[in-house]
Amino acid sequence: MAEFRLPANSTVKKGKNFKAGAGATNVRKFNVYRWNEDDGENPRLDSYEVDMDKCGPMVLDGLIKIKNEIDPTLTFRRSCREGVCGSCAMNVAGTNTLACTMANEDIKGDINIYPLPHMEVVKDLVTDLTHFYAQYASIKPWMQTVSPTPSGAERLQSPEDRAKLDGLYECVLCACCSTSCPSYWWNSDKYLGPAVLLQAYRWLVDSRDEVTGERLDDLEDPFRLYRCHTIMNCTNTCPKGLNPAKAIAEIKKMMVERQG
Ligand code: SF4
Ligand code: SF4
Ligand code: FES
Repeated sequence: MAEFRLPANSTVKKGKNFKAGAGATNVRKFNVYRWNEDDGENPRLDSYEVDMDKCGPMVLDGLIKIKNEIDPTLTFRRSCREGVCGSCAMNVAGTNTLACTMANEDIKGDINIYPLPHMEVVKDLVTDLTHFYAQYASIKPWMQTVSPTPSGAERLQSPEDRAKLDGLYECVLCACCSTSCPSYWWNSDKYLGPAVLLQAYRWLVDSRDEVTGERLDDLEDPFRLYRCHTIMNCTNTCPKGLNPAKAIAEIKKMMVERQG
């Protein structure tokens, strides 16, 4: 029988409350999801009062300040701090986003932070992206050619063909879009999801790639591509302003056009 409630050990409990230091006058509260498999406890929401006069402007600055000065056990991923590595993806104020490009001042009230939804949690804000990366590898995200390499020259591309990659190459594989997609929530075992499909389209549309037919054959499947029902959550959430739903629609168009 279907179980529609969270199992008892998944219910998020109220956690610890860390007060701001004496003298802080500009205080905001960060409520952060915490879970550690090793302690056998339920997940909990810890609250940290942060002195914003001594904190950088972004959500990630707040998390780093908490980790450095208040609670070193808090675990999250980050690297570049400027929206290019994709590793600080998390759910902030109800939206999947990059913590390093989301400004604290753009959030009203408490700053609520959870891991990316519908993913296995490794610890706190860190989710397991193993399957996501395996799906990415499955679309062979590199240029494939069959013609001989031009001697002494690179494989050239016209400025017009290069422009077709705009809006695609900027993807940082943060998984914000895929983890906001209801089709991906329910069928991520078989559906590739918007991030990986945007990447697939990036190679399909590259004029230098010579295996377009094989790439389309690999996607011609009721689940891998066609589980997208154009709900558009992916495009609405992408922190890089990309449009995975459009890329998916373009792949579907290529499928139809090759029938003709
Ligand atoms: S399309 Fe946007 S949201 Fe999706 S993985 Fe790429 S950068 Fe992240
Ligand atoms: S448009 Fe497709 S990929 Fe994007 S959220 Fe909707 S179902 Fe998912
Ligand atoms: S830390 Fe690299 S994208 Fe946020």
